[in-house]
Amino acid sequence: MMNKQDVLYRQIITLSDGSRVLLRPLTPEDRQNLIDLYANLNAEELRMLRHDVSNPEVVSAWIDDLDYDRVLPILAMVGEQLVGNATLHFHHGPARHRAEVRIFLSKEVRRRGLGTRLLQALIDLAKRRNLYLLEAEILADQTNVIKAFKKLGFEQQCNLDDYFMLPDGEFRDVAHLILQLRETGGEF
Ligand SMILES: CC(C)(COP(=O)(O)OP(=O)(O)OC[C@H]1O[C@@H](n2cnc3c(N)ncnc32)[C@H](O)[C@@H]1OP(=O)(O)O)[C@@H](O)C(=O)NCCC(=O)NCCS
Repeated sequence: MMNKQDVLYRQIITLSDGSRVLLRPLTPEDRQNLIDLYANLNAEELRMLRHDVSNPEVVSAWIDDLDYDRVLPILAMVGEQLVGNATLHFHHGPARHRAEVRIFLSKEVRRRGLGTRLLQALIDLAKRRNLYLLEAEILADQTNVIKAFKKLGFEQQCNLDDYFMLPDGEFRDVAHLILQLRETGGEF
């Protein structure tokens, strides 16, 4: 599935405040930038994430294992500064028609439309791979984030009770959202 198109993917977008952002795939040269992106999260934000991204080894391992056919990470760059990382996670076998999206932006660039544009880029890349479905799992109490995904066409399929376990053992419900990219059937 990895093709030249993914490697060469570039998009320049202009945010509402006029700043220009380059979207491009993650490369091995981005190791330190990626570690820095996740370095200064506060404890509350950190405990809501799937991985302990404050540990440079965890982030560094994503680069060691870089394989665009498994996970395609698209970065948002303002000049030389990495300000966002959005990923498409592909599956195999009976799940090969869908991918999961995840997105993280540094605090100072939020609420300026970048999240929406980055998600739209992932949607376009997923369509280019002829996928049928995109899915996202978002903590159910992050209603603003759920709203942002819905604006792009995602539909909330269900809420999964106690699906996410925080580091201290507390549970959170998770909203499961789906975006249908193309029709799945009906032809005889
Ligand atoms: C979720 C995230 C990517 C959104 O990115 P963003 O660039 O701030 O989003 P946008 O500026 O495109 O905003 C899109 C919509 O999100 C909603 N929204 C996002 N954050 C919000 C907030 N703090 N308060 C109110 N609305 C918010 C609004 O509906 C907004 O639309 P509007 O600006 O027209 O009102 C970003 O907040 C982030 O990285 N959060 C931490 C990681 C995370 O939660 N990831 C999602 C789970 S995979």
